[in-house]
Amino acid sequence: MADKVSRIDDRYATVEKYTTLRGIHHDARRHLSEAEWNYLWCGTGDEVTLKDNVAAFDRYRFVAPLFAGIDNPNTQTRVLGFDLSFPAFIAPFGGEAVFHPEGHLAIGRAAEAAGIQQMVPVAASYPLEDIAAASSVASVFQMTFVGDEGAVLDLMDRAKAAGYRYICATYSPIRQWRERMMEDRFSIRGENGPANFGPGRSDPAPLVELLDFTQPRWNWQQAARAIARAPLPCIVKGVTSARDAHAALDAGAVGLYVSNYGGRTVDRTPAALDVLPSIRRAAGREVPIIFDSGVRRGSDIATALALGADAVALGRLIALGLAADGEHGVRRTLDLLQREFWTTLGHLGCSKVEDLSDAVLHQSELSLAR
Ligand SMILES: Cc1cc2nc3c(=O)[nH]c(=O)nc-3n(C[C@H](O)[C@H](O)[C@H](O)COP(=O)(O)O)c2cc1C
Repeated sequence: MADKVSRIDDRYATVEKYTTLRGIHHDARRHLSEAEWNYLWCGTGDEVTLKDNVAAFDRYRFVAPLFAGIDNPNTQTRVLGFDLSFPAFIAPFGGEAVFHPEGHLAIGRAAEAAGIQQMVPVAASYPLEDIAAASSVASVFQMTFVGDEGAVLDLMDRAKAAGYRYICATYSPIRQWRERMMEDRFSIRGENGPANFGPGRSDPAPLVELLDFTQPRWNWQQAARAIARAPLPCIVKGVTSARDAHAALDAGAVGLYVSNYGGRTVDRTPAALDVLPSIRRAAGREVPIIFDSGVRRGSDIATALALGADAVALGRLIALGLAADGEHGVRRTLDLLQREFWTTLGHLGCSKVEDLSDAVLHQSELSLAR
């Protein structure tokens, strides 16, 4: 019996507090108030897109070949010039001190230990310089293209000076219709522009004050001009159609970030996974594509890569890890995701990330994507 237990210990590392992501989810729920939990999970409107993002993953099935001879798949990859221990970035999510007082400082340390890179939002709970100083992996600074162009460029200069390597441009012109937060009277300054504070634990997001959300009228010409003048290469987040993919590349983006913000902006837009294949086709093979919205486990990373992404970004999963146990919770989340992704690669007969293609997906489901 003792022998059996120790073997189980080896395989599932039970000395660790969390053996699966479910345990992390459970602790996060215990640590957050109802309003904070709703801030994490809210979508807009009826939250149809939020649900569809996850349902889209559930429609795909893998083909697991017999005797494929894989014993140690390599999960490493290179995206946007970064060597990643597995194909993931931390998604830029703001107001994160609601989940844990150390916010993106803790997230950066965990991401560094895990060997991946961090995207930092303008609406973070800490100044971009402090987050950059906390680790060596705060490399992408997300900012809304809004208001005065000079102010946008000034903020980019600050990001460059702090050591960021890319700008992630987003477009968020007006407030979103998030009924859970409205009912809770809960708001975070920053995520959609300045707003009053609710009962959350987060401190203001002071950087957002530098952007003028009363002047949202940016168009592609203006975005292209800002990208051309930017001190750092830009990727564009929020691409959900082939048309916007072309527009972003024409405007000078060096990479595309396919995302519907986890269903937090406009409800009843398509699941992000469902638009990914057409965006890969529009962008061609070489353009780096980061994907988020709906990734819930390690095998989802394989599905997104099989459908054309180079890496995924992790939003809510990281917020859950942070809420469950700060830096350790995020570190463990990343560890479990990487391990499950490794297992998935192996079972699909892939010895490396680049081996993932639509050939690993069951064909009847794949016809949906064509
Ligand atoms: C609490 C929270 C805050 C967020 N804040 C931002 C933000 O400030 N800027 C941004 O570009 N995206 C923001 N996002 C969207 C995430 O970057 C990411 O696109 C989203 O979490 C992906 O959906 P998923 O987590 O359901 O997979 C936020 C998401 C959450 C959950």
